[in-house]
Amino acid sequence: MQPQNLKEKIEKLLSPEAKKIIYECSKIARIKDFRIFLVGGVVRDLLLERNILDIDITVHGDAIEFCKLLQEETDCRIIQTQNDLKTAKVKFANNIEIDFASTRKEEYPKKGHLPVVTQTGCMLSHDVKRRDFTINSIAVALNPDSFGLIIDYTGGLEDLKNKTLRILHEKSFIDDPSRIIRGLKFSTRLGFELDEKTKQLQENFLKNPNRDISWFRIKSELQQTFSLNSPDVLDKCIEQKIYKIFSDTTNCINGQEVFNIIQKHHSEIKNLWLIYLGVLLTNKETIEFFNFEKNEKRILFDALNMVEQGSNSNDFFEIYKFFEGKSIESILIFYLVSKNKNAILFLDKLRKYHVETTGDDLISMGFLPGAQYGEIFDSILKERFAGNIHNKREETDFIKTLKNS
Ligand code: CTP
Repeated sequence: MQPQNLKEKIEKLLSPEAKKIIYECSKIARIKDFRIFLVGGVVRDLLLERNILDIDITVHGDAIEFCKLLQEETDCRIIQTQNDLKTAKVKFANNIEIDFASTRKEEYPKKGHLPVVTQTGCMLSHDVKRRDFTINSIAVALNPDSFGLIIDYTGGLEDLKNKTLRILHEKSFIDDPSRIIRGLKFSTRLGFELDEKTKQLQENFLKNPNRDISWFRIKSELQQTFSLNSPDVLDKCIEQKIYKIFSDTTNCINGQEVFNIIQKHHSEIKNLWLIYLGVLLTNKETIEFFNFEKNEKRILFDALNMVEQGSNSNDFFEIYKFFEGKSIESILIFYLVSKNKNAILFLDKLRKYHVETTGDDLISMGFLPGAQYGEIFDSILKERFAGNIHNKREETDFIKTLKNS
């Protein structure tokens, strides 16, 4: 028996602060007869009894007008509005922020790019049809006369029960290819499967992917999806050829292997999602599609450069120089793609070696600052790798021999 009303779950799963806000909104909605709803991820997660991360409220009508009324009548503040979309962000007590959106219709005049809003304040039934999956299109009424009533125009409840991800229309992935990655995210996070038709439409898109698309959305979804740190995500990405969204070819890498090496170096890794993405990339041009931040770009470029060059030396100093200054993410991508054991030798052993002498020490020993400093440090490092130097005193003795030679 499917639930008809979500009041009980709202009571049970939302924090006391969030509940207070929802009931306040409900009360205010009655004053000027706004109809307000929860729609999207929050409804899905309430029905699945999962952690509620954020709450979005949809207003049938003008969300900005509703929020102005809310601001007049309750203890909250509008902190941002977008007039063309008729959306508002409101800050409540305890710093809780909630996004309010007007019901809207959207079109995709340029396939794969951000949609254009063609109407705000439309019927809820039209609003839900612009969305990605049926399980994200269920609404819950919040007005006092119908509080908690579930409104399911697309069969989302049935799909939720059957653990199925179903898009709402044939052009959904063409309109917004980031939905393919969202499908991967939800299938992994929730343990759901794509329905047959949806799978077919995904395959069709991936046979001939349009790359003139909004890379901002693709990047954001890849970041969220790979941040799940799940071996399954990578395996499915390769099996289902989802990598074709951004690359014609990929490397054959096992998700578990990536997961294991990430676990080993977990405390040092800041961008684990980039490791999952990096092992899939086979050429540098692909990197240019994304609007990467400078450090993200550096990580991926360094990794692909290292793969291109390879590290075939047996000499500790040369191996050290190959990896020196590279991020842990780049080195792990290089290792996973090339299986070159020098990366492990560097991470486990060689990077612990270092020169204790400083530039100031060299000045006090009478060396003029310049390029020769680098050469001196390198000579010391070589001696350390050879086992001839073990501490700073021995470094100083060695430097003196250089000076006298
Ligand atoms: N949505 C969509 N197409 C997208 C992104 C979002 O239709 N490409 C819709 C879905 O209805 C989604 C809602 O907008 O539920 C909110 O989007 P978002 O916050 O990104 O997703 P959530 O479903 O809340 O997922 P998550 O739990 O990962 O935040």
